Amino acid sequence: MLPGPIPRHVAIIMDGNGRWANERRLPRPFGHRAGMKAVREAVEGAIDAGVEVLTLFAFSEENWNRPALEISALMDLLEEYIAREVAELRDQGVRVHVLGDRSRLTAGGRAAVERVERETAAGEKLSLNLCISYSSRGEIARAARLLAEEVLKGTKKLEDIDEEAIRSKLYTAPWGDPDLLIRTSGEQRLSNFLLWQLAYTELYVTPVLWPDFNRRTLRDAILDYQRRERRFGKVTAS
Ligand code: FPP
Repeated sequence: MLPGPIPRHVAIIMDGNGRWANERRLPRPFGHRAGMKAVREAVEGAIDAGVEVLTLFAFSEENWNRPALEISALMDLLEEYIAREVAELRDQGVRVHVLGDRSRLTAGGRAAVERVERETAAGEKLSLNLCISYSSRGEIARAARLLAEEVLKGTKKLEDIDEEAIRSKLYTAPWGDPDLLIRTSGEQRLSNFLLWQLAYTELYVTPVLWPDFNRRTLRDAILDYQRRERRFGKVTAS
């Protein structure tokens, strides 16, 4: 067990699969395959540490612009991950949700996503959110659209559209904001991930490439988080 406060919700931008493969002179999909193992490390490390919610950025809307071969390798991996891990995730008490525009997935991908959500629905130890075909600006635009529809229907008043109303329409509404965001591979940007939700989140960037991520990396991130002073815009009591 780690001393000190454990971040309830950890989000991760899993980056560096391509570089990991390049360093080994392997095609990029090999990096993604190695990245799948790191997902397992992150899930088990989160359970061990007592994290309650883990939100992983697996595929962005912008990633649809990658070469077709890489996209299909990633989609195949997602289906493989679900087929291989669903029983273990259920046994570990993990409840999986997929966040993003799933209408763009193949029929097989959608079926796999529905299966993992259905078969892990009783999990109470860790909520695992996989962001797939996700973009934060798209998510906020969707929230605005959903609220506008309610106003047009007359079920919501214009003056009731406040921060809470927007929050309630985000994919992440059930889980609250992340306490800690980890980004691997050293890049210092948010890449259209959880822009609304990260307003007061502690950021941790590690040079570790995603396929090399393991429980120790997660532990280091949590230890670093425990040294932070979170003020949420207020001053410290003295
Ligand atoms: C970023 O690395 C990673 C991705 C675009 C895909 C993430 C996918 C996985 C970790 C594997 C499958 C995941 C699940 C949930 C089954 P990059 O390709 O942008 O790396 P680079 O910046 O070094 O090129």
